[in-house]
Amino acid sequence: MNEAVARPLNLFEYEQRATDQLAAFAYDYYASGAHDEITVAENRQAFERIRLRPHVMRDVSARDLSTRVLGRAHALPIVAAPMAFQRLAHPQGELALARATSGLGVTMTLSTLATTALEEVAAAAEVPGWFQLYVYRDRALTRDLVARAEASGFEALVLTVDAPLLGRRERDARNAFALPPGLVAANLPSEGLRHLEGAPGESGLFRYFASLMDAGLTWDDVAWLRSITTLPVVVKGVLRGDDAALAVEAGAAGIVVSNHGGRQLDTAVATIDALAEVVEAVDGRADVLLDGGVRRGTDVVKAVALGARAVMLGRPLLWGLAVDGEAGARHVLELLVAELDLALALCGARRLEDLSADLLR
Ligand SMILES: Cc1cc2nc3c(=O)[nH]c(=O)nc-3n(C[C@H](O)[C@H](O)[C@H](O)COP(=O)(O)O)c2cc1C
Repeated sequence: MNEAVARPLNLFEYEQRATDQLAAFAYDYYASGAHDEITVAENRQAFERIRLRPHVMRDVSARDLSTRVLGRAHALPIVAAPMAFQRLAHPQGELALARATSGLGVTMTLSTLATTALEEVAAAAEVPGWFQLYVYRDRALTRDLVARAEASGFEALVLTVDAPLLGRRERDARNAFALPPGLVAANLPSEGLRHLEGAPGESGLFRYFASLMDAGLTWDDVAWLRSITTLPVVVKGVLRGDDAALAVEAGAAGIVVSNHGGRQLDTAVATIDALAEVVEAVDGRADVLLDGGVRRGTDVVKAVALGARAVMLGRPLLWGLAVDGEAGARHVLELLVAELDLALALCGARRLEDLSADLLR
């Protein structure tokens, strides 16, 4: 980055800066949500509505941001959300994000639809990653992806359950979204599966999902997934307590309260508003995470206070990649961590376990 230009001060400034770096169609793909993008906005507004009731006089001179997720200690309560097609942001794409995240001890979730092969990303990361799975109607193909993820050292599978069909993102339809020449869905074994075909007024990714992904999934498929892998399964995309209980009964080790960043069902509830219900239904039987609209350290405090073990961070990492590759993504994380550390101190908490729902109003 040009040193004469001041670095962004927060995650919102990274998005502004990224708009100058990205092709318009790529920015639209990253930023957009379904239909009227009401849930995209609501994820933020719901965080903003919550007020904090801080404690004082509690000796916060030493603070600890560590947590445990899936039985392993994590230095920070942050995991990188799975996001497809990261080479649209930067030539190093997923490799740059793997280096940036793992350098800070943060686990990265690699999308099925990555533009870099999962073996290469696993080799570049210093801490074990998670592999996000979309289930193709071709179960042999799906099984092969799972076997490769397991063999490459990924630590968990993240089964995305909120996308039987892709949400309709009108910006992508308008742009007839497709991958530019040279970029492919690199985890897939054949040319037909590696490319997206846009059409006038239609997103190539929407068409890809409709033709290839399995819209027939039920909770029984979690048992199927568990039968073909020894890795723990994290179910991503739950917004209700009853579904969370079914996920646990189906054997999920983790649940991500997510509305896919507002990209699937528009007018779905904000994730922070759904979190308490899920935490109550899970009742300690699995680790609960949350994503969607996390942009400030206080957002992380609110999620943890309501029972999340960690948050997943999405789009801001792409803005960081677009602005300055690996260094930009790392700086995005550093900004969020500094805000979290400050928020913890100002809430009168020394560690994440000190946060509880009575901190919120
Ligand atoms: C550009 C983009 C691509 C995404 N690709 C995937 C994906 O491949 N698999 C998946 O489960 N979720 C995907 N998501 C959803 C994210 O994992 C996550 O739920 C969401 O972005 C979190 O919200 P935030 O961006 O507001 O932080 C994607 C999101 C974005 C913005």
